[in-house]
Amino acid sequence: MTNLTDVADLTGKMGAAEMKAGLDLSIFGEKLSGQSGILDLMNDIGEAVALRPDLLALGGGNPAAIPEMQALWRKSAAEFFADGAAFDKALVCYDAPQGDPAFLDAFARLFAERFGLPITSKNVAVVSGAQLGAFGLLNLLAGRTRDGRRRKILIPASPEYVGYADMGVEPDLFVACPAKITFPNPDNPQIFKYVVDFDAVERAVSENDVAAILVSRPTNPSGNVLRREELERLDALAVRIGAWLIVDSAYGGPFPGIVEDERELDSVFWGRRTILTFSLSKIGLPGLRTGFVVASEEIVERLAAITAIVGLANGSLGQRIAKPFFESGEILRASREIVRPYYSRRRAAAVALLFDELRRVGVDGRLHASEGAFFLWLWTPALTSGSKTLYRNLKERGVLAIPGDEFFYGLDESAKIGDGEGERDPIFEAHRRQMLRISFSGAESVVERGFRIIAETLAETVDADARRSR
Ligand SMILES: Cc1ncc(COP(=O)(O)O)c(C=O)c1O
Repeated sequence: MTNLTDVADLTGKMGAAEMKAGLDLSIFGEKLSGQSGILDLMNDIGEAVALRPDLLALGGGNPAAIPEMQALWRKSAAEFFADGAAFDKALVCYDAPQGDPAFLDAFARLFAERFGLPITSKNVAVVSGAQLGAFGLLNLLAGRTRDGRRRKILIPASPEYVGYADMGVEPDLFVACPAKITFPNPDNPQIFKYVVDFDAVERAVSENDVAAILVSRPTNPSGNVLRREELERLDALAVRIGAWLIVDSAYGGPFPGIVEDERELDSVFWGRRTILTFSLSKIGLPGLRTGFVVASEEIVERLAAITAIVGLANGSLGQRIAKPFFESGEILRASREIVRPYYSRRRAAAVALLFDELRRVGVDGRLHASEGAFFLWLWTPALTSGSKTLYRNLKERGVLAIPGDEFFYGLDESAKIGDGEGERDPIFEAHRRQMLRISFSGAESVVERGFRIIAETLAETVDADARRSR
């Protein structure tokens, strides 16, 4: 096979190594093509799937393959592929950048009729995955403006989804406030829960020009579900400062419904300055790269304009396969009757198993209250060498889980947040280096073996840390 270097020898043109060394990058190029937490994470997932099937993959955001859900998607895909006219229309033509009008209509009707959202198809944009939607949205709203301001995205309760961390076309897009660590059940110090520290948030908005407040709900990585009253206060704050509240519902209600509290499926939060993002990924179709943004008409128009420039249109297959589910409301039924109970069962088993394993090896670990999504967020206060050390030790032993550090971005840019003079809470500072995100969406046998190895590796790492500090 001819490789680039051979071609270079033959033609006298630049070889692969020279091409790399000689790249004179733009600021945008440097920022978006450099090292990032999400790149490492996605490479790890890709490697595990394609090259190292022996690795126990408890790292990435892949959803579970739920047989009933897969059967529904396969049936819908088969019907679409069998319909020659629909197939030709959908796959031989580009969609409009905002999405297929019939799909947008079905989506908006469902949200308006079932949940009372005051929206039409003009308020819905299809995006090539919620990830790309967030990229457009965050850079649309925040960054430098014509009049010289530097507008920020405020993370009200750090840690937050690592996938946002490097999205800014400009540097320092985020300002983050440490979440307050609480223990909801006084009798159980092993379960903690993050809540928004509104004093810190007020300080952040007084010191920064905030364009949008951003939360994933349920939160990746912690599985936290911000309470409705927290959302209402954040929305009121957004109204007061002329910002937006972006609620990333990749795991939440009304679909895919990976939440413990069933009431989350009965209504959809919609405040005065809310933007909602959704995805087909966690309901079982990450390969279709289809996500949705529900927002004001102007934001939707502008997102569609970005889609035209960066990608012309979105892939049409996801919209076509999912459309009947939105037309009939089946997406809501499947979320309530298939997806939510499935993850609820897996969650209970995972939490019990992890605590059993930790007890067996004698490690004091704490878990964030697992209210949604499909990760356990493990805090080991004795892990003084940090989560990256643990991650490397785990990888050597054939387990992939995600070190927590990368989820705590935006905090360094907010040095003044804290107690007055920029002091940081020492417990939170230690906490952010002691976290591990463990997925429980994989096959049960993988989870069982993986959890055992995690507990044993954690015990060894913590022992080594204790010996070092003696
Ligand atoms: C919180 C959150 N938002 C968005 C995404 C991106 O989803 P999509 O596959 O639709 O791009 C993910 C994926 O893991 C996620 O965890």
